Amino acid sequence: MKAADARVLLTGASGGIGQVMAATLLQAGASVMLVGRNEARLSILSEDLTRRLNVPADRITWQATDLLSNDGLTGLAHAAATWGANVVVHNAGVPSFGPLAAADTGEIARVLHTNLLAPMLLTQALLPHLHRQKRAQVICVGSTLGSIGLPGFSVYGASKFGLRGFAEALRRELADTAVRVQYLGPRSTHTTFNSPQVESYNLATGTAQDMPATVATALLEMLESESAQRFLGFPEKLAARINGCAPSLLDSAFNKHRQVLSGALTQALTPPARPTASGNPT
Ligand SMILES: NC(=O)c1ccc[n+]([C@@H]2O[C@H](COP(=O)([O-])OP(=O)(O)OC[C@H]3O[C@@H](n4cnc5c(N)ncnc54)[C@H](OP(=O)(O)O)[C@@H]3O)[C@@H](O)[C@H]2O)c1
Repeated sequence: MKAADARVLLTGASGGIGQVMAATLLQAGASVMLVGRNEARLSILSEDLTRRLNVPADRITWQATDLLSNDGLTGLAHAAATWGANVVVHNAGVPSFGPLAAADTGEIARVLHTNLLAPMLLTQALLPHLHRQKRAQVICVGSTLGSIGLPGFSVYGASKFGLRGFAEALRRELADTAVRVQYLGPRSTHTTFNSPQVESYNLATGTAQDMPATVATALLEMLESESAQRFLGFPEKLAARINGCAPSLLDSAFNKHRQVLSGALTQALTPPARPTASGNPT
């Protein structure tokens, strides 16, 4: 749909990519409901966007919600329906990096809940409202790691593979309705989402990073073109295609990633060297 006709519920709006998405959508004429957990942060962001972009205050609103809370999801769906949202962008997400053996059970559950279950439940809660719209769109923000499984990203990758599967199945399920379901797969992007360990892994494996504006521009283009899916970055796009047809062909291509991961693990598990009498570490 045209940006000017879009009333976008944007989760993860307070994050590195979300803030730029909000600005890009507003500049293109859309109305935006910013969603995050922190009221103060959303309120400041909303004021800043209104002032900086000189948009009428009625085109921007915010709703503080913890997407891990069922009551929160119900309240958000109700607020979005009352506001008249016709586009949902599932952009909120949490990272996870490291060997599966070291992952905490609660952490695994939190990542899958935030990145996969919450978008599914929020979409489900909003569907009756979306079906009443002339045209509606649900855009899931996944990741390259939702198409290619990399060492160190088994938990995060599972959440994003799941999100991609959800978007694809629902797109086909709703093909004869007014609700379009889309999937955007950014590659690594320069925000605080990536821990220093991930930054080092990216550096050691030659993984390129985009700026948030690249992802935000792609989102706007997807909103307007209504394309089913889009993946960002080369060679990531090509690798995702090859991986989709013949994943074992790529297994050895990620040996370096595994070695970097085990190197990082060894370093993390090695106690810091104790100073000797001379003051030099042993
Ligand atoms: N950065 C990358 O390298 C990269 C690459 C590919 C895909 N992505 C995907 O892009 C999306 C945005 O990433 P980003 O880099 O902008 O991350 P970010 O800067 O860490 O922002 C994450 C956003 O998610 C929100 N969020 C997290 N848990 C939440 C919860 N329980 N309830 C409500 N909101 C919650 C945060 O809100 P609060 O203000 O409440 O914390 C924040 O707005 C994510 O889905 C991520 O998986 C990122």
